[in-house]
Amino acid sequence: EKDNLSLLLHKYKDKLTTLPKQKGWMGENLYMYQGFWYGSTSAFSVQTTMAMQDSFKPLPTDIYLLTLPKSGTTWVKALMFATVNRTTYNHNSNTSVLTHPLFVSNPHNCVPFIEPEFVNKTPTYVQENPNPNPRLFSTHIPYTSLPRSILDSGCRLVYLCRNPKDVMVSWYYFSNKFTLKNLSPMTIDEMFEVFVKGTVPYGPYWDHVKEYYNASCEHPTKILFLTYEVMKKDTVNQVKRIAEFLGCPFSKEEETEGCVEEIMRLCSLEVLKEVNKDGEYSEGVPNAVFFREGKVGGWREDLTDEMSKTLDDITNEKFQDLGILF
Ligand code: A3P
Repeated sequence: EKDNLSLLLHKYKDKLTTLPKQKGWMGENLYMYQGFWYGSTSAFSVQTTMAMQDSFKPLPTDIYLLTLPKSGTTWVKALMFATVNRTTYNHNSNTSVLTHPLFVSNPHNCVPFIEPEFVNKTPTYVQENPNPNPRLFSTHIPYTSLPRSILDSGCRLVYLCRNPKDVMVSWYYFSNKFTLKNLSPMTIDEMFEVFVKGTVPYGPYWDHVKEYYNASCEHPTKILFLTYEVMKKDTVNQVKRIAEFLGCPFSKEEETEGCVEEIMRLCSLEVLKEVNKDGEYSEGVPNAVFFREGKVGGWREDLTDEMSKTLDDITNEKFQDLGILF
């Protein structure tokens, strides 16, 4: 008997053959759908996006974290999870901190990507009541292709972006740290080439960011737009902003008690790196691969001046008047 994923890939196989195709990140075949590139073999495939557009049913209370890969997804998953569930896992008692899910599990398990949930029809996905707290999911699907049901249900969306040079370098290290079947690691020149062309999963980078940025301006109560850089510089205030946006603002008492700082410490790179130093997130993908340096401007160590200038030129051209602060 075929599994859910094979059935889904089979169902959309004719549609797949109508899409433009290119070799991209790690030599994988990527397909362009509604202006963006996707893989075609896993739950994170263009077929899943099409299937979700056809039949995905969110709950109105759902919260989605939207990002491009390597923008700091793992970190903000942890922050959102800890914030939304803070009364369930009370920070004031010493013992409960040790049993906090983030202390034993990858943030990607606490806030799962919606695609595998949808494909595998997991209990979380089929549940009808978000009990006791709202469901937290994340996805890299671009705004244009996000199932309309998510936008129409009143779900709250948090978009996180990061400066493209650090994203590119983070992609580079990421791709060289694990082995997926049939995929070969890349040199920095190859990574640069595909990043600029946009042939990375969910690329082009610039279009992805720009669409969500514009949507957040149009629907400020539905979409919160964040950057990794501002999150790093002013984590406390950004976490408060997230909490307010999600309808669970920190009380004065919580603030005085240092609740925000506690969450920040729990989700720090040091803590998460230690918790996730062993084990695998999925087959061939070690937990540790999601945690590296977490620096703003770390690209300086890896990009040539020429690469940096090319990326700056594209960013200036594409983001001209947007006022995104990296
Ligand atoms: P670097 O490769 O620049 O270090 P994603 O989670 O979207 O895959 O992004 C991964 C990037 O986020 C990596 O960046 C990683 O080090 C950084 N990161 C992971 N956990 C973090 C944390 N707790 N705080 C800050 N940055 C973090």
